[in-house]
Parts: sequence; structure tokens; C-alpha cells
Amino acid sequence: MCGIVGYIGNEEAVPVLMNGLAKLEYRGYDSAGISVYNDGICTIKSKGRLSMLSDKIHGEGVVSSHIGIGHTRWATHGAPSDRNSHPHNSQSGKISVVHNGIIENYMDLKAFLEEKGYRFASETDTEVVAQLFDFYYDGDAVGTLRRVIGKIRGAYALAIMCNDHPDSLVAVRKDSPLLVGLGHDGNYIASDIPALLEYTRDYYLLNENEIVFLKKEGVTLYDLDGNQIHKDVFHVTWDIDAAEKGGYDYFMMKEIMEQPQALKKTVFPRLTERGISLEALSLTEEEIKNFNRIHIVACGSAWHAGIVGRYVMEEINRIPVEVDIASEFRYRNPILSKNDLCIIISQSGETADTLAALREAKKQGVKVLSIVNVVGSSIARESDDVLYTWAGPEIAVATTKGYTTQLSMLYLVALYFAKVRGSVDEMRFQEYLRELRLLPQKTEDILKLDGKMAELAKRYAHCEDVFIIGRGLDYAAAMEASLKLKEISYIHSEAYAAGELKHGTISLIEEGTLVIAIATQERLFEKLVSNVKEVKARGANVIAITTKGGKDMEAVADEVIYLPKVADIFTSSFNVLPMQLFAYYTAVERGCDVDKPRNLAKSVTVE
Ligand code: F6R
Repeated sequence: MCGIVGYIGNEEAVPVLMNGLAKLEYRGYDSAGISVYNDGICTIKSKGRLSMLSDKIHGEGVVSSHIGIGHTRWATHGAPSDRNSHPHNSQSGKISVVHNGIIENYMDLKAFLEEKGYRFASETDTEVVAQLFDFYYDGDAVGTLRRVIGKIRGAYALAIMCNDHPDSLVAVRKDSPLLVGLGHDGNYIASDIPALLEYTRDYYLLNENEIVFLKKEGVTLYDLDGNQIHKDVFHVTWDIDAAEKGGYDYFMMKEIMEQPQALKKTVFPRLTERGISLEALSLTEEEIKNFNRIHIVACGSAWHAGIVGRYVMEEINRIPVEVDIASEFRYRNPILSKNDLCIIISQSGETADTLAALREAKKQGVKVLSIVNVVGSSIARESDDVLYTWAGPEIAVATTKGYTTQLSMLYLVALYFAKVRGSVDEMRFQEYLRELRLLPQKTEDILKLDGKMAELAKRYAHCEDVFIIGRGLDYAAAMEASLKLKEISYIHSEAYAAGELKHGTISLIEEGTLVIAIATQERLFEKLVSNVKEVKARGANVIAITTKGGKDMEAVADEVIYLPKVADIFTSSFNVLPMQLFAYYTAVERGCDVDKPRNLAKSVTVE
């Protein structure tokens, strides 16, 4: 949800900012802009992709500068346009601001400033920050920012440049991510590490309302009261290549193909000879034994992972599990009690609703265990316990390896709890562990369906409606499959519990409608065959995804995709793989921008 970057140092600022924005474009891509300094603040911005900004910068002649801020936007207030693009400058031209987040009380502040004679040039909430900063500015950027923070409400990562101090930048974050990069030739700020990885591996991770004052020679950190604070440097060890496409046309395909490796990193270090070890878990065995209820809270695909988690956790632990969409959980006054556990799932670790749900659970005194991919992210830092999925950077907007590694982390947690609670017998437990060890290899085998799924995508890419049906865990997989298809190929698709279709929605099935039936649960297989017969009788074309041995499906479906047989609790890790490939190839076939689907952004840091 918007990416911001800032630089001050010996290098030319424009290329540093543009490189950074290119790496942040996944966070929003409906407009972009930069402010640099050369005898005054110079701001260039443009509606559209970053390439349009680049053309504009080169068209006007690249300004030489050693300081600057940049922004790539996912519109919240005001449609994408040159005028609404960031940076926003104060009316006097003295202040330039980039912002990620939402200023909730901007209307009141705008009215206040208008009364003082300020005129506004855009429809954005951000412009009030530029004008308010200008209003209070007395030459002390940190002091002014503290006053501004005292007046604004909402979520923000802000970076600010002042015309009269072209040797410094000031920035702050609350509920939106921001980190500080420490370089030899200068210092940086950015919404995410990939933006800065080619310049530095050393970072300060900012906590809520920590202010950073950057000069080329060094960085000073302050708390909200203006006291100087000190932090440990966070050193990034992952490879720059991990954030590059590596020969693939799209990040999404690279990330699909990375799943076997990613799963190895999630699972293998946590498997011991005969058990599971979850590093640094502060939950005691006593607490785990006493849990009465588990609440899993997340958004989007992570919520789908949570639905799988519920089936698995209830199946092998017999603990009741509730799964909530984070944006609903936080406002529904959830009933939580002492012996409950809240499991938060988030790839980015920055999703605003999920973070708010975590805080709600903590406020109610419930322990929070989070499953997160991005190390050092807000959710990771605010949880009582964090288990990292170690999937490496996920750049494509549609999650793939993020999701499958979340699933495997949920299996590990469920099995670990089962062992502590004694709810699964040893033989069965060891069988599950054996299957977990095979997860990466089986994933690799299934991804060989690549060619087959490309062929099916070619055949069905013209469809405008697709129904994906399943029961139990296959229904959870259908939800994820459906989301993948609609978000990147723009095909309308619905996931349906197969037994529920006949209660209304089957009226939409007509000659040629594509139905994808997922039938990998052994005990529900025959039921699914019947549901496929029902839609076939109404003219549907059916692609079935089932496990080896499910021969009866061939007699009813038009196409059958076979997956290896595994224990029911693990099927969700496999049945989603052909659907990731199908969604990808369908989107390619339809000429969609796979990595950057319209209207979306990778990390949703607004409510
Ligand atoms: C869909 C997708 C989103 C995310 C959701 C939560 O492909 O990626 O639905 O799963 O926005 O994001 P995280 O996991 O970062 O909290």
C-alpha cells in the first residue's frame, strides 16, 4: 500500500530513488513521484507506472541532487492523477512530503489550515501533513514533526524534506512500515528491504512513532518526547538474487517454482529425529495443554491458510478453532478468554487489519503466536511468539510460496501441540512426520504439471465465470484457488462447498460453464463424484483434481489431474499447486500483468 524511499549522501539521488521505487512498485503502482533538491525543492510526479515517471524525469532533464524522497502510490484518497500523486508540497514550496497510510482526521485539519489561509492542490489526506508541517515549522524539523504527530490521527510512514535544510531528512512511522538503511556513502529510508538491498545490509527497524533524522554522515533516532534513543543494527543476510526475477517472465512463476526450496526451509530445521522443535517458543507445555480455544486471524490467502489450519488443528488436537477475517475480528467485539490462544498469520507482517487484530487480542490478555514471513515486521515484533516461514522475499502481488509455507507452519504447530497434549498416538504422529519430510519433494513433482496446466489454461482462458467446488479441506483449497484466479486473470470465480451448490447457485451452471472440482479427501471422494455428475448434467465442463486411485472421476469429468496420495491433513498443500499454475497461465493467456494485477498492492497497510 504505497512505497516510500528516501536518500541523503554522496551518490546522485535520482537513480537511487528510482531504483528503490522499482523494487517497491509491488506496493502500489497507480502513480509515482520524487522530490530532490537543487537550489530549491524540485518535484516531479506522474500518474501511471514508474516508467511514465522515468520518461518525465528524462524528458525534463535529470536534476543533479544528493538528497531526495520518492513514492509509488496505491490510491486511497483521490483518484490516481498527477495532482494526487506524491510527493505533496506545502503551498509555500518549503516542505515536501511522501506518505504511506491514511490520515483519518485530515478533513478537520484541512478546515483548520484553510482558515489560516492555506490552499490545497490535491484531494489527498497527505497534503494536510505538508501544510501542517509548514504551519508549525520553525527550523527544527524533529520538533516540528513531533508537533505534527500530536495533531494527526491514523496510520503513517512519512518522509519529509525542508527547503531550508537540504542536508537532512526527517521521517517517522506508525502502523505503516518504515526502516532506515545505514550506508557508507549515505543513509536511506524505505518501506521495505528490497528497495535498499543493493546499497546496504544494515538497518534500523523503527518502532511505533520513532522519529529518524538523517544526514549524510549519520542517523539520529528519537522517541515521541524528543529523547534520543539507541537501537541494535539489524543485519540482512539474504541474497540480492532472492529479490530478482532470475530468468522468469514474472516473479509469480519464480515464486511458484521456489516452493520446494521454501518448504524445506520452513519444515526441515524444525524436524528432529522423532519430533518437532519450535524454536524459542515462550508458550509453556502447561499453557498448551490448557488451551480451550484457538482463534486464527488473518486476511486474504493467509485467512485461507487459517481455514486449513482449523481443519487440521481440530482434527488432530480436538481443540475448537475459530477462524476470522482480521477486518471483521477487530470490530466484532470478539469473546476471548484466558485459556485461548490467538494465531495470527501474515506473509508481510504489516497488514493493517491483521496488526490491529493482534493488538485487540493482546489487549484482551490473550497470548499471540504469529506465523510471519518478513523478518522484523510489525506483526513479528508485537507478537508474544513468532514462527517465521523463511520463504524469502515474495514480490508478486498474488501469494504462492507465502501461502504454502504458512500451511506447513500450521501443520508443524498442530503436530507440536498434539504431541504436548497427547492427542495423537505415537505411530500416527511418526507417520505424519514422515509425510512432512516428503512435502518439498512431492511439491516439486506436482509442479511438473506445469505444461498440462498451461494447456488447460489456453483452452479455458476465454471463460468469464468459473466455479471451484470441494468439501472440507478441498473447499478451503477451492477458496484459495478461486482467489488466485480472480485476482490475476480477472475471471469471475466462486468457490463453493460442493454440497451447498444445489441450494441455489447451481442455477448459474449452464452449457459450457467451467467447474473445477477438487476431490482429494478420501472419505468425501464419492460425494464429490456425485456433485460432479450434478453439474455435468447441466452442461458444465469439468476439470477434476484428485489423488491417484480416484479412477471413478474419469468417467464423469472432462479432464482429471492426478496428485500423489497423502494423509488428508496435508492435501491442501498439494491441490493448490495445479491451481496456482492454472491461474498464472490463464492470466498470461489473457494478457494480464501477472505480478501487478489492477487495483491491488502487495502489502495492505491501510484498513
Ligand atoms: C492474495 C494475497 C492476499 C494476502 C493478504 C494478506 O494472493 O496475497 O490476499 O494474502 O493481503 O497479506 P499478508 O499475508 O501479508 O498479511
